[in-house]
Formats: sequence, structure tokens, C-alpha cells
Amino acid sequence: MILVTGGAGFIGANFVLDWLSTCDEPVVNLDALTYAGNLENLASLKGDPRHIFVQGDICDRELVDRLFAEHQPRAIVHFAAESHVDRSIHGPGDFVRTNVNGTFTLLEAARGHWMGLDDAAKAAFRFHHVSTDEVYGSLGPTDPAFSETKTYEPNSPYSASKAASDHLVRAWHHTYGLPVTTSNCSNNYGPYHFPEKLIPLMIANALAGKPLPVYGDGQQIRDWLYVTDHCSAIRAVLAKGTPGEVYNVGGWNEKPNIEIVHTLCALLDELKPDPAGSYSRLITYVTDRPGHDRRYAIDARKIERELGWRPAETFETGIRKTVAWYLANQEWVAHILSGAYRDWVDTNYAGR
Ligand code: NAD
Ligand code: TYD
Repeated sequence: MILVTGGAGFIGANFVLDWLSTCDEPVVNLDALTYAGNLENLASLKGDPRHIFVQGDICDRELVDRLFAEHQPRAIVHFAAESHVDRSIHGPGDFVRTNVNGTFTLLEAARGHWMGLDDAAKAAFRFHHVSTDEVYGSLGPTDPAFSETKTYEPNSPYSASKAASDHLVRAWHHTYGLPVTTSNCSNNYGPYHFPEKLIPLMIANALAGKPLPVYGDGQQIRDWLYVTDHCSAIRAVLAKGTPGEVYNVGGWNEKPNIEIVHTLCALLDELKPDPAGSYSRLITYVTDRPGHDRRYAIDARKIERELGWRPAETFETGIRKTVAWYLANQEWVAHILSGAYRDWVDTNYAGR
């Protein structure tokens, strides 16, 4: 079995659902259920014995040790993190605690477990660390896309805490020989994306007739990847990646934010027209994010060359699926906006 951390969040939940739809290897899912963790994301796994959910903190060494001892996972896939740049600006402490101390705790627990394995199990064991392209800093308009050898230049408390965790993971390989792999991925989008991030926020606000807040001039560029493509990249790294290696994952989809917002408005105009007029009337420019990175772009040639991975979705297919998913799952969004998703935990797990 594998141990997944943060599997009730956006990408982690997609990964767990994807994993169990492609194989029968059980998953132990350790998640603290912070504001970003939502067990409704995993509702389709209710009663599935292949999914063991454990509510707990990755900083809790005793708990993590117990999970390793009890379940003997052959690999850990580490998603758990504080992940929202805007929140990191207002409160960086949780980011250092979870992203840095939490990753340290997992590395130490994994190392303790790994050292007790026989030679074959030791060689097969993997610690996969899920990281971000934001550790590389901001690009100018004509700079080459981030390769795996790009200098780390994190600019936000979020990216700095992720950069620190990447360095710890690297050091645990070089110093102790722990078989780690790391993936640095670009911005994801798709189902179960918490509506505080650009794409789901714009969809939710548009449907509610609220302003669509575009930071600064809207010309910041991100490289967008459909979330299930990120999941398949992680599966490829886990199966075929070389310990100690880093793989950059991206969608070859550089887009300015304002273009994303116009695309969303056009899709909503087509799929759920508003009698009041095009949703683009709601676009509102607001004060920029402090220290806002201008451009991210990923050079994903290494993972393609070495592991044969390429994204299956184009931006056009992925964004259409995403808008359709949000239109079909407005109750999921409503539960988050009302806070009702928190009660779902009690409803679902009371008496178990
Ligand atoms: P998310 O915020 O949606 O989910 C994070 C999950 O981690 C939540 O379920 C939360 O409850 C859990 N968690 C937080 N603190 C915890 C703790 N101390 N102990 C246990 N669980 C805890 O984040 P996401 O967007 O799904 O991102 C997942 C990972 O992927 C992160 O490591 C992030 O840095 C990385 N990443 C995200 C993106 C993106 O576009 N969202 C891109 C590249 C990399
Ligand atoms: P976000 O989804 O927060 O991801 P990240 O900061 O990790 O890239 O933001 C994506 C881009 O969209 C980023 O350049 C900030 C911008 N943005 C807005 O313009 N308005 C918003 O309301 C939000 C949440 C983000």
C-alpha cells in the first residue's frame, strides 16, 4: 500500500481517486482536514476498503511512526501543505510549520522506517515530494522556462516554505540515502479546486453575479495543467523515476490571467448564459498582490524524455471539462461557501 498525505485537498483527492481507479493498491490517506481539506472530495470512496482515511497532522511524529509501523507502506506521496499564496502573505506561520516542519517530520519518520527494511524493500521504497514551480521565482517575458537546474529564487512565504521543504528532501537523499523523488509542477486546475484560487473563484463569483477580481493589470502569466495530468505525472515518477532526481511537470500552456478570465466568461456565456449579459461585464481590476510573481513557465522535457510522460489534456479540453464540472457540482461549491462541508465530516464519520 501507499501512504498519501494531504489526500483530502484539491490535488491529493484527485490523486487518490485516480489511483484507485487505475489500480487496487490500497491508500492510507493522512490529512489534518484544515480549511482546505474536504472529505466530500472523497465521497465516492465511501465504504471502499482500499481507502483508509486518518485525520491527523503530518507534524505529529508519533502518529506518523505508528502509520508506518501499522501499514508498512512501500511509498509515501507527500501533498500535505498550506498552499495558497494570498494566505501565506497574511499568515506565514502555518506555512513554515506544515511545509517545513511537517516535511521534516515525515522525512525522519520515513528514514526510521526505511532503515529497518531488508535490502530489496529498501531499494524499492520511495518518498515522493510534491512541489511547485513557484520555488524558482519569477521569469521575465523572454526568459527560458524553468528547467530542473534553475536557481531557487522563491518570493512569497508560500514558495519559500516549499523551497525549504525541497532542500530538506534533497538533503535526506544525499546524506542518508533515502530514495526520494521530487516533482515541481505548474498551476493545476480541475475538479475539487478550492474556490479561493483563480479559476474556481472566477466561476463561483460569475455564477453568483459578483465581481471577478483581477489583480493588478492581469498580465501575470501562469502555466496551467489539468489536475489529472499532474496525477499521471506523479504515478510515472513513482513507477519509473530515479531516486534523488527532480522532475518538472507542466502543461505547455502559458496564459496571462486576464485571458483565463475571458475564457471562463466565454464558456459560461455558452453553457449557462446570464440574461443580464456576458459574464465579462463583471471583470474588475483590483489592487495587486504584494510581491506578485510576473511569469512562471515550465520546461517539461526531462519527464517526457526520461519517463515518457506528456499531458493528455490541452488547455481547451481541460478548461471546458472544468467549467462543466463546476456547473454540475454547484452543491459542492455551495457547501464550501456556506461552511457546510465541515459538518459533512461529522455526518459521515459519526458512529464509525
Ligand atoms: P490544498 O490546499 O487544496 O490541500 C492541502 C491538503 O493538505 C488539505 O487537505 C489539508 O487539509 C492538508 N493539510 C494541510 N496541513 C496539514 C497538516 N499539517 N497535516 C496533514 N494535512 C495537512 O493544496 P493542493 O492545491 O491540493 O496542493 C497539494 C500539493 O501540491 C501542495 O504540496 C502544493 O504545494 C503542491 N502544488 C500545488 C499546485 C496547485 O496549483 N494547486 C501546483 C504545484 C504544486
Ligand atoms: P492562484 O490561483 O492564487 O495561484 P498562484 O498564486 O499559486 O499562482 O492565482 C493565480 C493567478 O491569478 C495569480 O497570478 C494571482 C491571480 N489572481 C487574481 O488575479 N485574482 C484572484 O482573485 C486570485 C485568487 C488570483
